[in-house]
Amino acid sequence: MTKKVYVGMSADMIHPGHLNIIKEAQKLGYVIVGLLTDKAIASYKRLPTLKYEQRKIIIENIKGVSEVVPQHELDYAPNLREIKPDYVVHGDDWQKGVQQQTRQKVIDTLKEWGGILHEVPYTQGISSTQLNQSLKEIGTTPEIRMERLRRLIESKPIVRVMEAHNGLTGLIVENININQNGHTKEFDAMWLSSLTDSTAKGKPDIEAVDVTSRLHALNDILEVTTKPIIYDGDTGGIPEHFVFTVKTLERLGVSAIIIEDKTGLKKNSLFGTDVPQKQASIEDFCYKISTGKKAQVTKSFMIIARIESLILKQGIDDAIKRADAYIKAGADGIMIHSKETNGQEILEFCRRYALFEKRVPLVAVPSSYNHMYEKQLKEAGVSIVIYANHLLRSAYPAMVDVAKSILSHERSLEADDKCMSIKEILNLIPGTK
Ligand code: SPV
Ligand code: MG
Repeated sequence: MTKKVYVGMSADMIHPGHLNIIKEAQKLGYVIVGLLTDKAIASYKRLPTLKYEQRKIIIENIKGVSEVVPQHELDYAPNLREIKPDYVVHGDDWQKGVQQQTRQKVIDTLKEWGGILHEVPYTQGISSTQLNQSLKEIGTTPEIRMERLRRLIESKPIVRVMEAHNGLTGLIVENININQNGHTKEFDAMWLSSLTDSTAKGKPDIEAVDVTSRLHALNDILEVTTKPIIYDGDTGGIPEHFVFTVKTLERLGVSAIIIEDKTGLKKNSLFGTDVPQKQASIEDFCYKISTGKKAQVTKSFMIIARIESLILKQGIDDAIKRADAYIKAGADGIMIHSKETNGQEILEFCRRYALFEKRVPLVAVPSSYNHMYEKQLKEAGVSIVIYANHLLRSAYPAMVDVAKSILSHERSLEADDKCMSIKEILNLIPGTK
């Protein structure tokens, strides 16, 4: 009887190493590729460039592959127990490093029915990481960038977003990552905050920085990054103007705009009721949402409605009523904002929101309730967490410190250890040399 051979793969970018593994697998029997889903890949590294369906078409058409099945987790065991292959074939590179545990589990699971792990010598000189780096350097297209936010929402337990207000902060969000227990952690997307964009320009966050000026900052970020962008649209302006903003952002490849249900002179939400601020009527705001939705051209672009009821002390009932109305008006997401430090009203809102029959992704901005972990927010039903102002808030005190040190010493020597070296700054941006 023909032997069954199982090969687990992400296969975002196929290279000769993959083909070699499939060739070796074919020598042993009928090859079933367990193709990792976007969700499985996103659980330990960056979302793949190609979607599952696209990767599936490629793999199905490779000579030697008999069948492709989804592998929903990094762990092979559930698929192996169902398929009970005679062999699993994998590159021998996983004997070392973070994949050791996955490998051991494969060996142990195969033992249950006498299956064998067959390892193929790793193909030297080709690395997916290197190919990925090159792909990043090539850049992205507006369509790919825009669609990526929806893909992230579908694939990740919670989408992690950091503010950016210029090219440099965009690069930080794009490139900074850490490795923790073998998993690469990074930010998934960027928030174009009105607060940090205005503050960086030395202007108040009252919609005084007009859309044209905001688009300059956006363009600087678009030029040097590939990750999706969520644009803080403040109130969105009057509906007749909002349609232009939607079309422009969509054309540029921005994934989403968030508009808040305030009217008149907008002040930053974190003032709460310390300053006069007025909430829009449900009717008017619904009209703005539906006008925006009609204006957009693609299916991917998202208009997210931001509810200010908790900020303005209007209570959870009002917030829930608005969420329901905004979803009915066509909102693709709901952002619920709060400046309460204990986070209780957010959790209460989430509990009640979970009972909605029709829900859209929920966005939270834990600037005030910053003790809350992403995991707690996720468990409460939040899909997107935004760190709305942290790069600017951290940069400013560092700059003030250095400015004061130079004033007090009348030279810069004492400030030097607070600064990156000249060598570092010259090498920071590729192409400076
Ligand atoms: C922003 O970052 O500009 C926001 C969030 O709108 S907040 O500052 O909390 O209002
Ligand atoms: Mg704002």
